Amino acid sequence: MNQIPQDVITEIRNSIDIVDVIDGYVKLNPRGKNFFGLCPFHDDNNASMSVAKDKQIYTCFSCGATGNVFKFIEDIENISFIEAVKRCADITNIKLDIKVNNSKINEKFKNLYDIYEDTTKLYHQILISENGKEAREYLKNRQINDDIINTFRIGLSLKDRLIITKSMSSKYAKSDIIKTGLVKEGDRGLYDSYCNRIMFPLDDINGNIVGFSGRIYNEEDNSKYINTNETDIFKKTETLYNYNRAKNSARRNGYVIVMEGFMDVIRAHTIGYDNCVATMGTAITEFHANLLKKMAKDIYLCFDGDKAGAKATYSCIEKLKTVGVIPKIIRLESDLDPDDFIRKFGKEEFDKKLNNPISVLEFQISYLKKDYDLNNMDDVAIYLRKCVELLNKVDDNILREMMISKICEDTNIKPDIIRAELRPLIKHEEDVSDAEIIKPVIIEPQPIQKGLNKYEKAEINLIYYMLNNKEIIYIYDRRISYMPSYKMRKLAREISGFYHKHGYINVADFMTYASSKKELMESLNVVLNQNLREEFDLNEILDYINVIKEYNINEQIKKIQKDIKNEKDIMKQISLIDKITELIKDREEL
Ligand code: CTP
Ligand code: MN
Repeated sequence: MNQIPQDVITEIRNSIDIVDVIDGYVKLNPRGKNFFGLCPFHDDNNASMSVAKDKQIYTCFSCGATGNVFKFIEDIENISFIEAVKRCADITNIKLDIKVNNSKINEKFKNLYDIYEDTTKLYHQILISENGKEAREYLKNRQINDDIINTFRIGLSLKDRLIITKSMSSKYAKSDIIKTGLVKEGDRGLYDSYCNRIMFPLDDINGNIVGFSGRIYNEEDNSKYINTNETDIFKKTETLYNYNRAKNSARRNGYVIVMEGFMDVIRAHTIGYDNCVATMGTAITEFHANLLKKMAKDIYLCFDGDKAGAKATYSCIEKLKTVGVIPKIIRLESDLDPDDFIRKFGKEEFDKKLNNPISVLEFQISYLKKDYDLNNMDDVAIYLRKCVELLNKVDDNILREMMISKICEDTNIKPDIIRAELRPLIKHEEDVSDAEIIKPVIIEPQPIQKGLNKYEKAEINLIYYMLNNKEIIYIYDRRISYMPSYKMRKLAREISGFYHKHGYINVADFMTYASSKKELMESLNVVLNQNLREEFDLNEILDYINVIKEYNINEQIKKIQKDIKNEKDIMKQISLIDKITELIKDREEL
């Protein structure tokens, strides 16, 4: 089924705690023996996912998603089983000597990915070498320390314009090297595109490097940053700087912060904000908007404090609206960008900013105000019209009133004049208060055993207990070994087989085994989704066994009845009838 031996897979699984792993993606809260959180596999607002520390599995009692740590990583990262195992091995520092294909790479462009990756390493080496002294000094002055240099894999291109050319030419085809944009072809042959710049690698949404942005650091140049040209694998309109690093933190914290520059994102990271992204110097596109929408419930826009930043905020709001997102707005004073702001005022002040975002409406009204001279009556009139237009788009009365008093302060107009212009509020019956939105209603998991007949109930319960107790496997082996439904029969056999092969049983490891067998996994899901109690008593088990035996006897009787009908020989008929009588007696003795 895979190249990694089962015992190694088990060792990896045992050395990692599923609670820690899942907690990195969704905030988990302990309740009783288990942990609960919002299920990332469906649109959940009820904390439907339970993670069992003892069993090392997760189950969503709403959408039915279930599995062990590997399955979780497979599904959330959309990668293969082997890749998921490899990731866990990396986390726990277990050496795995296997080649894992990156399923997130389009094989057609593998060479391009490899060239960017190799170049990243080379640039990084240069930066940390003797040749990188001056550049490192520059970074140090910007308070970018070695940790950040390593995390963001920052590098350096030198004045010698043959370094990348030579190094890549020894490994890759000329056409591919040129395609990356890292090397150009001139009259005198190939040469490096970048020269004497600090190099920031750019990742695609899966974390693969697909380009660079190079910044000047010691010489004046017309362009502060130069980005690599777009290729089949690098599109600025689809790139969010730091997306892959930020996505888990954004989901976990419930919000993502959008900034203008990637230096801002890097700075925010240094004070613990791992949930920031930036576009690559372009306006936000619909693709970006949709990507952001998927990242987290709340989107904060924290653009530069200058006029251009306000303008960018305005158009970003419009773009986000088209995908149904209303962001929260952070505005920084004195034309500062987040990088400057954090360096000047520190983390606490930035925290304060984030804790007090302004609404889109407030931002829009103050943005409008800039265009008008409020000492001029004509201007005031136009300004008020525009304000009314904006207020009319809002259905929240408190927000309206708050804004009205602000507008009145600025313009010396009586509130009623504005109110008279507003359309009535629409009452939404299904309106939910903010408190309800923020605090997930926690529903206790309910056993969903409704709709099952007694045979199904018995086989599902038995299998569930088999997964948790070897004794039940023994009981099953000796006393039943034949479940009513085909699917559960197969599952029970596999569980018993697993136990006899490995000498132990637990859900998490059985899941690893089952994960490549679709039908088996489906049956297992049915069982785990019943949310059964773990404790059982023997009488209950014996009841189930009798139910199943009864089923088997009924089946045999049905079969014999059929045989009797087809039987011409009277003597044989009589002996078949005897058999039925015996079976009925057996059944009564159950
Ligand atoms: N940008 C670019 N080319 C430029 C200037 C900017 O591509 N000549 C892009 C970069 O992606 C940059 C973003 O626009 O991250 C924002 O630009 P700016 O605010 O000028 O960058 P800062 O983050 O302030 O960069 P620095 O602090 O290094 O000056
Ligand atoms: Mn800056």
